Amino acid sequence: MRDSDNAIHISNLSKFYGKLQALNNISFTIKRGDFYGFLGPNGAGKTTTINIITGLSNYNAGSVKIFGHDVTRDYRDARRLIGLCTQEFNFDPFLSIAQLLVYQAGYFGIPKEEAKSRAATLLQRFQLLDKKDLKYRALSGGMKKRLLLCRALIHDPEILILDEPTSGCDLELKFLIWDHLAKLNKEGKTIFLTTHYMEEAEKLCKTIGIINHGRIVKMDSKENILQDKSLQDVFLEVTGIE
Ligand SMILES: Nc1ncnc2c1ncn2[C@@H]1O[C@H](COP(=O)(O)OP(=O)(O)OP(=O)(O)O)[C@@H](O)[C@H]1O
Ligand SMILES: [Mg+2]
Repeated sequence: MRDSDNAIHISNLSKFYGKLQALNNISFTIKRGDFYGFLGPNGAGKTTTINIITGLSNYNAGSVKIFGHDVTRDYRDARRLIGLCTQEFNFDPFLSIAQLLVYQAGYFGIPKEEAKSRAATLLQRFQLLDKKDLKYRALSGGMKKRLLLCRALIHDPEILILDEPTSGCDLELKFLIWDHLAKLNKEGKTIFLTTHYMEEAEKLCKTIGIINHGRIVKMDSKENILQDKSLQDVFLEVTGIE
């Protein structure tokens, strides 16, 4: 298999915060076009892994490659292939919704006029176009979640990484986001998602990895993982956490 078929390739990755080992020698590969669900209890190391994949955090050992680009040595090439939907809202409070997206596009060298047009298309797709001149604080929680998605998609990345994209969303919004994510995956985007909702992983994902105390304790196709049990039971079995 060519390296370019491996969207994310993590090899023997370890990360310490002081004495705390957040990641303990993890290795796994996500293939192009996969919809990967990364599950684990609070504090398991999910966001730490995402921060390393996206170059927001350093690490102590191992390597991470995005379509063959090392996230440290080829940071720019690796980063432009990823759209990140963060767990927290971290928008600039002084910019309008539309400006936020145009600025984000600027980080990836997209000219302003092109960025404006992409922003309008995304805001339309996520039903936020009528809010484009507001500051993000004027949005409801669910609208902010959708704005995170627009920001992640503005440079049309190959890989979309989502850290708990539907936490705190009502059912209707959850279904809307699921629908969009399924479509994006069908259109060819590789998706890496963390979630605490077993139903979300069961419905959307093709491959599932379970992390606990900084170690990958199970990873397989969803079908294999779900062979005789619900994901809830598998999760309970490998983490001991209900
Ligand atoms: N900046 C930091 N400084 C020190 N410790 C940290 C830092 N970030 C995370 N940790 C610790 O690393 C471990 C893994 O945290 P991480 O945020 O990766 O977990 P998570 O799986 O994303 O959890 P959650 O489901 O609650 O979001 C935890 O013990 C956490 O306290
Ligand atoms: Mg997290």
